[in-house]
Amino acid sequence: MMPSFLRLSVLALTIVDSASAHYGFPFTVVNGVVSKRWEHVRPASKFFPVLKVDGPEGMCGFNATLPAFPIKTIKIAAGSEIGFGATIYHGYISSTPRDPVESEIFEDFDSRIPFRHTLHHSGPAAAYLSKAPGDDLNGYNGDGSWFKFASVGASDGMIWDIGGHKNKPVMIMNFTIPASTPPGHYLLRVEHLNMLQAHVRGGVELFPSCAHVEITGAGTGTPEPQVKFPFYTRDDPSIWLPILLAQPYKAMDELKNWQGAGPAVWQG
Ligand SMILES: *[C@@H]1O[C@H](CO)[C@@H](O)[C@H](O)[C@H]1NC(C)=O
Ligand SMILES: *[C@@H]1O[C@H](CO)[C@@H](O)[C@H](O)[C@H]1NC(C)=O
Repeated sequence: MMPSFLRLSVLALTIVDSASAHYGFPFTVVNGVVSKRWEHVRPASKFFPVLKVDGPEGMCGFNATLPAFPIKTIKIAAGSEIGFGATIYHGYISSTPRDPVESEIFEDFDSRIPFRHTLHHSGPAAAYLSKAPGDDLNGYNGDGSWFKFASVGASDGMIWDIGGHKNKPVMIMNFTIPASTPPGHYLLRVEHLNMLQAHVRGGVELFPSCAHVEITGAGTGTPEPQVKFPFYTRDDPSIWLPILLAQPYKAMDELKNWQGAGPAVWQG
């Protein structure tokens, strides 16, 4: 057996090489409490960017149309904020106990190498909710109706608010659930898009994750529009913004006022 320090560095090198531009959001952050990996977020089999934005993996990530193992539902009051913590470390999707070395690297959000927990690209973010037919989120495949409740773009019309800028790295993206959201069990989907590679790949890179949430409160709002997944097509003009490739960056009203890809935001 390899000495553990050696194993650790071999593992670390492999990960940095293969995953440095890939990330996901396996952690929730509610009231300052960071969850365990995949505690409330549907495990994805890999963090590779989703290129087929209208394919099944565009909803909750690869092989996450249903959870690979049952996960917990997190309670959150309508009107409050939920965060999604990023990491490039995929770890395993097994629910069985793990090797302590792997646990140290993969499982601790407050890792000694926090850089690895930033988003590696810059782009817009959005959050959606879909009410499950009953209380069983582990059995809900997201084929019902969805509404979009938050969208984060480039408030200065120039640089995306959420991204991996070296001077302002983002580790957690936050979304506020509208106070009038009706209570119930929901699949809460977040997405982050990498727009800057659009010219290379002829599309965008999508990084989605879905959490199981129970929204509490006495909300009686009527969220709209209600849409089915997929929310956009691959060549959708709302996610194909060649204008963003302009260099150097300069403020643009189109970007400042951009409502994001997909349906309109329900403000509550
Ligand atoms: C995982 O997802 C990929 C891409 O969507 C698919 O090709 C593959 O069959 C899936 N594997 C399983 C075990 O579902
Ligand atoms: C999201 O909220 C957390 C606190 O829970 C904060 O540390 C983090 O900076 C916030 N993220 C952004 C992009 O503002």
